[in-house]
Amino acid sequence: MQNRFWRIARRPEGTDFAAALELDEAPLAPLGTGEIRIRNSHLSMDAGTRMWLTDREDGYQPPLPLGIPMSGLVLGEVLESRADGFAPGDLVRAFGQWADVSTVDAVMSGAIVLDPTVTDRRAWFGPLGMNGWTALWGVEQTGAAKPGERVLVSAAAGATGILAVQVAKLLGCEAWGIAGGAAKCAYLTDELGIAGAVDYKAADVGGQLDAAGGFDIYFDNVGGALLDQVLTRMNHYGRIAVCGLLADYTGGGRTSPREFDQVLMRRLRIEGFFSPDFMHEGPALTRRLRDWTEAGALVMPYDVTQGLENTLTAYAKLFTGGNIGKVIVELDA
Ligand SMILES: NC(=O)c1ccc[n+]([C@@H]2O[C@H](COP(=O)([O-])OP(=O)(O)OC[C@H]3O[C@@H](n4cnc5c(N)ncnc54)[C@H](OP(=O)(O)O)[C@@H]3O)[C@@H](O)[C@H]2O)c1
Repeated sequence: MQNRFWRIARRPEGTDFAAALELDEAPLAPLGTGEIRIRNSHLSMDAGTRMWLTDREDGYQPPLPLGIPMSGLVLGEVLESRADGFAPGDLVRAFGQWADVSTVDAVMSGAIVLDPTVTDRRAWFGPLGMNGWTALWGVEQTGAAKPGERVLVSAAAGATGILAVQVAKLLGCEAWGIAGGAAKCAYLTDELGIAGAVDYKAADVGGQLDAAGGFDIYFDNVGGALLDQVLTRMNHYGRIAVCGLLADYTGGGRTSPREFDQVLMRRLRIEGFFSPDFMHEGPALTRRLRDWTEAGALVMPYDVTQGLENTLTAYAKLFTGGNIGKVIVELDA
């Protein structure tokens, strides 16, 4: 059987993914011991994967070698299994390949069998997936948010951010978001009902933040110049939970806050966190996120692109701001 997949031919420059990734085709190899074959129904587009496409060796994951299929989270049914605990027909999520069919080592890929009774399976990429875990962990554990505190989230209209602002609200905090453009800010305040939103693409971001008032927790998805703006507006003894550094992903720069001295002046705690470090907490986090989702208290809009051949268009949205909510590629059945 032939399998189409996106091959990493070159390191991408900025958001020119078409020059770096090529849609290729090859026959499927026989399944090895411990492996499963998944018919991908959905691919998750995740901004953090942009770092794996660079050649930097000091990231939290080594670079993906050139010539191999692009990897990422996938959702789909097991076609064939040589791994204990996985049977044909099981709905699974795993770190697979941007392909029609993923072949993975069940253990190394973190494959898990999912409850097929969840009505919208895309939720396994959103509130019930890594984005949900990251949002809840970042606000509650790393940010140590307490009821009544003021929480600010950057990239707040994206998958992780949308969940983080809602989780903050559910934990009794006053949630604020930073997003690019009036439409995204209106979505956050009018649809999600958070306390306020700052449009970082509009004029006078500093003035907008001043008008918002000080923050106790900054859930940062972006880094860069925005981090400097926020550092000078943190309340004393505030916490900055560093989730991602989107401002650096496509340009290859490094965030080096000019206002770092505010960590001392305001006695701030600043700490990075990374979802694989708390993977073992996944089932407990999922239970809470599922309760909120089923009660309608946690929502996720999906930005869905049809067809494996259109994957790169979907992926670019993460870096150009073309999405509200979770970016997903839906594959032909
Ligand atoms: N630590 C972890 O374990 C973990 C796990 C999952 C995700 N993350 C991080 O979470 C962040 C969000 O990832 P995601 O996959 O959920 O993507 P996403 O938020 O759905 O999409 C990214 C959004 O970020 C905004 N953005 C892009 N470049 C920006 C820039 N230079 N400055 C400000 N905003 C920018 C864009 O919205 P605008 O229109 O608002 O610009 C875009 O829609 C990433 O930093 C990712 O690495 C971390």
